[in-house]
Amino acid sequence: MNKSVVLIGTQWGDEGKGKIVDLLTPHASVVVRFQGGHNAGHTLVVKGKKTVLHLIPSGILHEEVTCMIGGGVVLSLPHLFAEINELEEAGITVSGKVLVSEKCPLILPSHVELDRARERKLGEKKIGTTGRGIGPAYEDKVARRGLRVKDLFDERSFLEQLKINLEYHNFILEKYYGESSVGLQESVDSTLGLKDKLLPMIGDISKELRKRRGEGKSTLFEGAQGSLLDIDQGTYPFVTSSNTNVGAISGGCGVGPKSLDYILGITKAYTTRVGEGPFPTEVDGLIAQHLSSKGKEFGSTTGRPRRCGWFDANALKEVAQLNSLTALCVTKLDVLDGLDQILICTDYKEASNGELKPIYEEMPVWEGSVAGVTSKSDLPVEAISYLKRIEELSGVGIDIISTGPDREDTIIEKNPFC
Ligand code: GDP
Ligand code: IMO
Ligand code: MG
Repeated sequence: MNKSVVLIGTQWGDEGKGKIVDLLTPHASVVVRFQGGHNAGHTLVVKGKKTVLHLIPSGILHEEVTCMIGGGVVLSLPHLFAEINELEEAGITVSGKVLVSEKCPLILPSHVELDRARERKLGEKKIGTTGRGIGPAYEDKVARRGLRVKDLFDERSFLEQLKINLEYHNFILEKYYGESSVGLQESVDSTLGLKDKLLPMIGDISKELRKRRGEGKSTLFEGAQGSLLDIDQGTYPFVTSSNTNVGAISGGCGVGPKSLDYILGITKAYTTRVGEGPFPTEVDGLIAQHLSSKGKEFGSTTGRPRRCGWFDANALKEVAQLNSLTALCVTKLDVLDGLDQILICTDYKEASNGELKPIYEEMPVWEGSVAGVTSKSDLPVEAISYLKRIEELSGVGIDIISTGPDREDTIIEKNPFC
């Protein structure tokens, strides 16, 4: 049966999307990224072997799948080929499996420099970006001066526009930020210089997705970042520069909302955030240490420690609505093993300084471990009641529970494709 399933992060990213995409890929003929760029870091673990992906969709470990990069994704060509090389060196077949949209905006070396210069200038007010040029590349797209994959076909006009953009970027870098400029040769090498390598991978993603659906094949849409990092609906200005919610699929892949059948929200059993910005349920001390070390909460892209906190059901309730979630997948339940207190945020109250303070409900803790459990009936009753409370508070049922990083460490109550 042809089914289109969407996977969305419901928090501030790093919910474990990559693991679940990899797990569900055998049911799909295509896995497609529709927004973001190589600011994402999606980790897959199969029989103890770890693969971290930034740009290549998380279906790549499977042979019979096409991995597509939709036009909503901002593309760094040097990064794309470095990631492909790394995968192939690890014995993973990539060649012939990746299709890149001709509409993808290109990330230039000057975008990276602008991203970093801006963060330095902001000092304490910085956003804490991944420093990969994502924001400036989206800015150029919206300003209608950006260079896209399809522009590579006309080398003369590409070069003309590249010179104009570089002149503008260098003006800001030198005159406003007081930083060094970026050379033309470096910009040419990382775009036109890689054109021939990219040519066999370019395609019309929208047409291809529609064709496959017509043939009865299934599609898996892989969200990057998370709902609370959405440029419009997230915790602005501490957000990424793309729309991360389900609505981004139409623009990012040229697929209409009626052809989406099932929207799975991935949510950690607690909350993390990497980078700056509000985080009402953030904790410190021993609880933070437990979550951080047991959950190995260090960014997969930048290696920065992730801030940790309690589960925020109040935020999830909102996110469930704005994504029309069909169901939830709760990940990292095992990280709560061994805690002598578990809290869940059910609402906020506004403090006199305007800050949002969480209202908590205390949940029963469990003895022993849920790590690696593959059947719901093997979970302690307290863990089941924790999951049930998440369902009640968010108004969405849980179809998948993850109990460890490995593909096998999963409880599938209902398969989204079946
Ligand atoms: P993504 O960006 O949403 O794909 O998530 P990341 O890969 O950045 O971060 C999730 C981290 O948690 C990775 O290191 C995963 O291997 C790991 N992980 C995923 N699911 C589980 C789980 O259920 N339990 C534990 N302990 N780790 C998990
Ligand atoms: P995945 O797909 C967590 C955060 C950055 C920063 C903000 C803006 O692995 O869940 P950017 O470089 O996008 O301009 O940074 O967004 N951020 C992420 N946080 N997971 C991610 O991706 C993220 N991608 C961006 O830390 O706070
Ligand atoms: Mg990540």
